[in-house]
Amino acid sequence: MSTVGSGTVKAVTVSRPSQLRGTISPPGDKSISHRAAILNAVSVGEARVTNFSSGEDCTSTVGILLALGVNISRGPGLHGQGDSLIVRGVGMNGLTEAGDILDAGNSGTAIRLMAGILAGRDIQSILNGDESIRSRPMGRVIDPLRQMGAHISARDDGRLAPIVFHGGELHGIDFSQPVASAQVKSCLLFAGLRAEGETTVRSPAPSRDHSERMLRAMGAPVVENGADVSITPCELSAVDVDVPGDISSAAFWLVAGITHPDAEITVRNVGLNPTRTGLLTVLEQMGADIEIVNERDSAGEPVGDLIARSSKLRGVNIAGDLIPSLIDEIPVIAVAAALADGETVISEAEELRVKESDRIAATVAWLRPAGGEVEDRPDGMTISGVKSLRGVTADSFGDHRIAMALAIAGLVAEGDVNIENAAAADISYPTYWRDLESITGVVG
Ligand code: S3P
Repeated sequence: MSTVGSGTVKAVTVSRPSQLRGTISPPGDKSISHRAAILNAVSVGEARVTNFSSGEDCTSTVGILLALGVNISRGPGLHGQGDSLIVRGVGMNGLTEAGDILDAGNSGTAIRLMAGILAGRDIQSILNGDESIRSRPMGRVIDPLRQMGAHISARDDGRLAPIVFHGGELHGIDFSQPVASAQVKSCLLFAGLRAEGETTVRSPAPSRDHSERMLRAMGAPVVENGADVSITPCELSAVDVDVPGDISSAAFWLVAGITHPDAEITVRNVGLNPTRTGLLTVLEQMGADIEIVNERDSAGEPVGDLIARSSKLRGVNIAGDLIPSLIDEIPVIAVAAALADGETVISEAEELRVKESDRIAATVAWLRPAGGEVEDRPDGMTISGVKSLRGVTADSFGDHRIAMALAIAGLVAEGDVNIENAAAADISYPTYWRDLESITGVVG
């Protein structure tokens, strides 16, 4: 691996090593970290959050909470793992007006979850983010929050950030969302904590349930019925959270392990919440040799260690209820599909078009010149496996998961993969390049 430049323009070149060996502990789960900071901030009491995600997205959430008057101290984690936070909760109504615009950076989870926290308060607030965030759909949270009684204005007739919150009196609604978004569900449940009566969110399929688990652990009356969830108002009690490693970050090493011809990679302490393990289901269907060991429970979330070994892969169909459980892993699943025997069809995944980048377009943009056989569909991709990929120079489009998927392509392609805007990985995985070097045997 070699690096040119620094900061956001950093370019990285990844070449195929003769073997991949090693053990990696991925950063704390990003989704759980956001929720642990936000929900403890509006709880009563003090909580310690360990192995908090070191990624920039979760730092954006901490910055927003600090600006709203929450006392959070952040220190290094134990055993070199993640960060640890001490969050002193201000209670459900204790947030104070910020002196400036609240900056969610690149984080869709930060802006949408905080929208549920800020709606209908008697403080004025403005949520904004980077260029990517300002182009992503916010009507999906603004419309139902307005139905709940929140006074909100936003650019493009209420569809785009910046989002301005001007108070309002919240009341519960029964809302059916058209796509299974955990961000929308969580936003409305968080607003429901301060709304009069019951708030119900119905979804066409299950999505990650970290909010429901944490809210329940904090004493909230959460009722689940299949993919539908209801909540009534309450004060939360702070809870300590030891954040499991992020399966969405582990995904890169698993795909490296199964696609490289001489590999054995262990990924430690990975969260195995069943609403997040669609990746493991699909890789198993593809014939991947992935062993799960040391399964245990950590703060209400299942956790285990995963060992990925070189495998012979076959194409699969990925659609339906599986999609929300692996939506963030599709950029790296594309690498496995590109080298599998036969065809992989990814469909009903139109949400990929409104992530940090249009991930269908971004994947086709690198995979085709790398010798992959890929056709884009409005709602996904069809990838026909080839024997090998060749080197390519490709842009991450500022999207962390595209940058990291490109690096995995570099570990298995016959030529060098040059990744432009590689620093995007810092959004979820600041130690990514160091971990990559640790399994190639090259010390950087
Ligand atoms: C997340 C939910 C998913 C996912 C995102 C994190 C969350 O988005 O893509 O990276 O923490 O709730 P949607 O819920 O919008 O699908």
